[in-house]
Amino acid sequence: IEGAMKAGPLTGRRILVTSGPTHEPIDPVRYIANRSSGAQGTAIAEALVAQGAEVVFVTGPADAARPRGVHLVEVQSAQEMMQAVQEALPVDAAVFSAAVADWRVASASDSKIKKTKQGLPKLEFAENPDILATVSQLQNGRPKLVVGFAAETDDVLANATAKRTRKGCDWIVANDVSPETGIMGGSENAVTLISEDGAESWPRMGKTEVAKILAERIAKAL
Ligand code: CTP
Ligand code: CA
Repeated sequence: IEGAMKAGPLTGRRILVTSGPTHEPIDPVRYIANRSSGAQGTAIAEALVAQGAEVVFVTGPADAARPRGVHLVEVQSAQEMMQAVQEALPVDAAVFSAAVADWRVASASDSKIKKTKQGLPKLEFAENPDILATVSQLQNGRPKLVVGFAAETDDVLANATAKRTRKGCDWIVANDVSPETGIMGGSENAVTLISEDGAESWPRMGKTEVAKILAERIAKAL
């Protein structure tokens, strides 16, 4: 890790990045999950490292390659991600790009659920902790800058703006992930950065470009 550190505008800053989906077990062979490649989160972590930051990268089981030069923490479920995030604090800034499953199966089965003639299994759900809201609303040790994401398919700006206020984060990086945009699973992103100053739409560009500009903005804000 030390060898990979570079001097830059974020030297001496410790930054948390969450990334990827979470997997919520149903039984030992099944889970529910969100769709997330982890590509944007990995790119953000690498861009922050390139600016000199010490990065704690907490990731669910994502397909994307792991970023280099970070403290890597791999988790499966939202509850594990919450725990890992708490252990990573304090940080100067936190970027929550993970697609966290909103619900988990209330009581996952220890043994494989079998098909039976008695009919379909009844799954009951419990709500997962909101990691972004928890960190945004910390009374003690809140990061100076908290950045959330909002992947929406409808009313992107209105939903994302409301999300920023509801959760209490500083910035929201909003994007339209409707199937026709081709953004989910692709190498490009078209985002709008929402802050207290308003909404700023960036042109569609590569996920590594989005990450680089975001890292520069973070450096400026810290
Ligand atoms: N997030 C989180 N923990 C959760 C859910 C979401 O940290 N349990 C974070 C995500 O990483 C993202 C932001 O919150 O940065 C917004 O996630 P999103 O799913 O869009 O928001 P929700 O409040 O879950 O609303 P929705 O009903 O639209 O899913
Ligand atoms: Ca959600």
